Amino acid sequence: IGMVTLDPGFVNTASCSSGITYIDGDAGILRYRGYPIEQLAEHSTFLETSYLLIYGTLPTQTELDEFTDRIRRHTLLHEDLKRFFDGFPRDAHPMPVLSSAVSALSTFYQDSLNPFDDRQVEMSTIRLLAKLPTIAAYAYKKSVGQPFLYPDNSMGLVENFLRMTFGLPAEPYSPDPVLTKALDQLFILHADHEQNCSTSTVRLVGSSQANMFASISAGINALFGPLHGGANQAVLEMLDGIRHNGGDVDTFVRKVKNKEDGVKLMGFGHRVYKNYDPRAAIIKKTADEVLGKLGGDDELLGIAKALEERALSDDYFVQRKLYPNVDFYTGLIYRAMGFPTRMFTVLFALGRLPGWIAHWREMMKDPATKIGRPRQVYTGEPERAYVPASER
Ligand code: CMC
Repeated sequence: IGMVTLDPGFVNTASCSSGITYIDGDAGILRYRGYPIEQLAEHSTFLETSYLLIYGTLPTQTELDEFTDRIRRHTLLHEDLKRFFDGFPRDAHPMPVLSSAVSALSTFYQDSLNPFDDRQVEMSTIRLLAKLPTIAAYAYKKSVGQPFLYPDNSMGLVENFLRMTFGLPAEPYSPDPVLTKALDQLFILHADHEQNCSTSTVRLVGSSQANMFASISAGINALFGPLHGGANQAVLEMLDGIRHNGGDVDTFVRKVKNKEDGVKLMGFGHRVYKNYDPRAAIIKKTADEVLGKLGGDDELLGIAKALEERALSDDYFVQRKLYPNVDFYTGLIYRAMGFPTRMFTVLFALGRLPGWIAHWREMMKDPATKIGRPRQVYTGEPERAYVPASER
């Protein structure tokens, strides 16, 4: 047996090669398939970016229309799957509801589970992209006790999601185009981030040749954690807590620096970005625009800005190269849009879906793929002899 190298958290270990997303953490660069995130955020749409991530090139207009049309035809959930939602407690967090429903898709679509059949993989891809927004909206409806709305396929994906979330059967609802555009852009910014915790999970599960639904359901559970996608919810809870204490930013920062009760400045720091997170720079601008238009919680935005300014001028954060990440301002935008805090991580999942799909597909096609099976360094007891219970 050769030497194994211990690398907790895979800080220094590449698990695959990939042609999807490029990150330069020192320079603050993020590109999908070669295209800078700033250009995609400004000019592309979430569906077009999804196509780019999954198929590798920007679609022609005909390709994009065809892709959009295929997704449109799969937005409905099976009526039996709809009944799943009745079984969860009313106060269930929508993330485990989301992952459970996605896991259940492999029971409804047994005709698209073969990872090596291109046509089946394509069907699963379209089904997931089409159905996840419907599942997410139903998870929300369940939590507020309102009736589910069927998708309206005359609408775009993001618009339809907003309508299914905030609409009521008795009241026609058409989302503000500013809100639709902003959410579409936030989805683009979240769409992929190479080998983060949830994407690595999707790959690890998929490396056993588990189907796409099973692999992505696992990815959703990985995203639920507060150090990953759950950070956007944690940021808002942190800001609410500071407001509750009279907006005292200094006391909070002191607690973070003293590592009291493991308190962290949520929405700060990143494993890869050590100068700034290019997504955060775009989102900060969006936050100003959206909050200006929709009227957000100015007090909370003020606390966030004061906190950012305070942290960026403090040695603790400077020395450790801790900067605002993608999640620092998203929560404020989501709240201004009307989403409850518990839905924030679900929104991250909707955005990250095309990235997970792209990685799963890339891995299945890669001849170098082997089942993921890390080694360990054993630190337990040396060999010892069994003693019967009566003699212990
Ligand atoms: N607040 C206070 N201290 C921090 C923070 C923070 N947010 N992040 C890192 N540190 C400290 C950490 O305690 C350590 O200090 P010391 O050397 O004294 O022990 C040092 O900085 C290095 O941190 P690390 O934990 O080794 O860094 P990591 O690469 O393992 O963790 C991270 C990256 C994102 C998990 C971490 O920065 C963190 O917990 N941030 C807060 C949660 C968060 O915002 N997560 C969202 C990440 S972006 C969206 C996504 O992709 O999921």
